[in-house]
Amino acid sequence: MKITIFGTGYVGLVTGACLADVGHDVLCMDVDQAKIAKLKNGHIPIYEPGLDSIVKHTVEAGRLSFTTDTRQAVQHGVLQFIAVGTPPDEDGSADLQYVTAVARSIGEHMDHYKVVVDKSTVPVGTGDKVKAAVRAELDRRGLELEFDVVSNPEFLKEGAAINDFMKPDRIVVGTDSDKAADMLREVYYPFNRSHDRMIFMDIRSAELTKYAANSMLATKISFMNEIANLAERLGADIEAVRRGIGSDPRIGYHFIYPGCGYGGSCFPKDVQALARTARDCDYDARLLNAVEAVNYAQKHVLYDKISHYFNGNLQGKVVALWGLAFKPNTDDMREASSRTLMEDLWQAGASVQAFDPEAMEETQRLYAEQPGLTLCGTKEQALKGADVLAICTEWKEFRSPDFGVIAGALRESVVFDGRNLYEPDMLARHGLIYYAIGRGRNQFQFD
Ligand SMILES: NC(=O)c1ccc[n+]([C@@H]2O[C@H](COP(=O)([O-])OP(=O)(O)OC[C@H]3O[C@@H](n4cnc5c(N)ncnc54)[C@H](O)[C@@H]3O)[C@@H](O)[C@H]2O)c1
Repeated sequence: MKITIFGTGYVGLVTGACLADVGHDVLCMDVDQAKIAKLKNGHIPIYEPGLDSIVKHTVEAGRLSFTTDTRQAVQHGVLQFIAVGTPPDEDGSADLQYVTAVARSIGEHMDHYKVVVDKSTVPVGTGDKVKAAVRAELDRRGLELEFDVVSNPEFLKEGAAINDFMKPDRIVVGTDSDKAADMLREVYYPFNRSHDRMIFMDIRSAELTKYAANSMLATKISFMNEIANLAERLGADIEAVRRGIGSDPRIGYHFIYPGCGYGGSCFPKDVQALARTARDCDYDARLLNAVEAVNYAQKHVLYDKISHYFNGNLQGKVVALWGLAFKPNTDDMREASSRTLMEDLWQAGASVQAFDPEAMEETQRLYAEQPGLTLCGTKEQALKGADVLAICTEWKEFRSPDFGVIAGALRESVVFDGRNLYEPDMLARHGLIYYAIGRGRNQFQFD
């Protein structure tokens, strides 16, 4: 099928590449000329494992191409996927300017039937706004062309996006049109061969499903962080508690890892946007507000521990930082906990020596002017001359480091672990003092 994708970010590029991989004829459009130029030259602008080889072979096979030309993009596909960003507005609501801009472009250039498929995460009711925007442009042109609007939220995880797209748990399709439903069935047929993963519903329910899924996952994390903070004050070990509750199949082991807060481009903004939607319809979403408040505080927890260790005086201290990306296997730094920690440390007069396996370029881009930041080529280099070590991302290569090297390099032999990567005994054997999240009173004394 002929498919157009608007937006070549984490969602758009993965969607385009995977749909081309199974045989569709895909044109990806982006307004970012530099991004499209890179893609045309065979460079992938983001780090996503496995994406480069799929893009390369689908481009070579002539099934995936790129453009900045809106007219060409609209004319290409009978299906027009919208995968542009929906960042938070100042009041926490989702900013729909990019989504509506695409909808207007479609109305401006379409000359026969189109299915507009919204893959961006958008508030309930956006389907109606997209319909109105396309219709307004058609009216302006004096045309009465038929089109349908579909909500098809994306559930992929950065870092595992290809696998998630190729083997989805579910494909949610919200539509009021049988014709559009049949076309979406055809698009996704190759992903449904072992069993049907498609769940059809109305547009509003599909839009809400995406927010509900992310809010539920964020709730699990904030819940666990709250219990971890209690464990610290009660002398319990959250890792034992985690195993104890995860063994209950009604709870499960997924998404109950305590840590220094969730980040990324989805959970923070989606929880906020849903809470905002609730306010707009006069409903006080107390649970969602609490999930966000707990996470906000949790992102400062590592800083609080470091500051407490140095009796509130961080002037001139050097903190080695392992992990900058908001989670492993991505270079995405949006809302990353590392950013909160670094900004807190700089504010207090400390400096940071940081290393991340993939997010160095992005960190450089974000903090090019920051004198308190030194980017290091390896995790060992980051330790040299530092007072203490802090860990914000659970990359595999941080999981079993040479503790002797850490102990030998740090001036204070203290590790602040925001992801509970290690067994406290192991570090104690190497003479390291270990502060993790929720690991008992002995781990961290609160005055
Ligand atoms: N990143 C994720 O893991 C993830 C997962 C599921 C859903 N989502 C949702 O998918 C949407 C996209 O997220 P993302 O992370 O891919 O965003 P992104 O910021 O990485 O990419 C968005 C792209 O859209 C482009 N764009 C903006 N306006 C455009 C226009 N008028 N025409 C064409 N392109 C345009 C931008 O230049 C950018 O390249 C968001 O709503 C997000 O919430 C993201």
